Amino acid sequence: MVMPATHVLCDRENGFAVVRLNRPEVLNALNVNLMAQLVDTLESLDQDDTIRCIVVTGSEKAFAAGADIKEMAGATSIEMLTRDQFARWDRIRKIKKPIIAAVSGFALGGGCELAMACDMIVASESARFGQPEITLGVIPGAGGTQRLTRAVGKAKAMELVLKGNMINAEEALRLGLINKVVPVESLIEEAKSWAREIAAQPPIAVRLAKESVLKALDTTIEAGLEFERKNFYLLFSSEDQKEGMNAFIEKRKPDWKGR
Ligand code: CAA
Repeated sequence: MVMPATHVLCDRENGFAVVRLNRPEVLNALNVNLMAQLVDTLESLDQDDTIRCIVVTGSEKAFAAGADIKEMAGATSIEMLTRDQFARWDRIRKIKKPIIAAVSGFALGGGCELAMACDMIVASESARFGQPEITLGVIPGAGGTQRLTRAVGKAKAMELVLKGNMINAEEALRLGLINKVVPVESLIEEAKSWAREIAAQPPIAVRLAKESVLKALDTTIEAGLEFERKNFYLLFSSEDQKEGMNAFIEKRKPDWKGR
């Protein structure tokens, strides 16, 4: 039996995991196999109580240079429809734990879309973001037109999607697409320190905070406020809420139980 290549590596550390895309010879082009392994890995980490935050990264040269062009070049519409490879991306959206993208080098097409599907993006000075699909005769298909527009606004999203050009990390930071830019050599340590910090927060509150922020992207202000309020009230039945507030009053560090 031929085993599929290992396109995704996963290292568990204390409280968080680092998931690395591993097709360096094609700049981590996202083929069906890689995406299947990535989504399976993320879902298994989501089920693992010892993991409270996830970092997704690539190589120094490329986070990911997009969907695998060679894999889809000859496909028909019906093959694309029945293969429905982007349906897998919906499962990333359902991951409950925070995901930090640590981006170095190219994050293009599906690579940029994958970074945007994460909750935060820490980038190295060498990072380049873009949606070049227009230059291939197509458009972004894994959320680019939607997430980029929400992140940077209509004018800049139009420019990037219609011209297909790349922006560097500083511009991505200025546009609000990413959270922080650091030197290449400190990227992974920076992402891990963010993951450590989030992993040290009370996990149920982290989960409901992530859900509530994401809700803001796809609902009205009224429904969003209602959703937030219910989640806030819900946390008062957690032990961690009692612990957090009592620890504040007693001037000590809280001891989170995740309950
Ligand atoms: N799919 C398949 N293979 C890819 C790839 C991709 N998206 N990106 C790079 N590769 C391969 C190249 O074909 C090359 O392989 P060979 O050595 O066998 O020729 C190898 O990776 C190294 O790439 P380059 O030689 O091109 O490296 P470079 O440093 O000269 O250029 C680059 C880097 C500018 C990123 C260039 O590789 C490039 O433009 N890649 C394609 C980017 C792109 O168009 N992405 C969008 C894909 S479509 C999409 O993502 C749809 C969607 O919405 C999900």
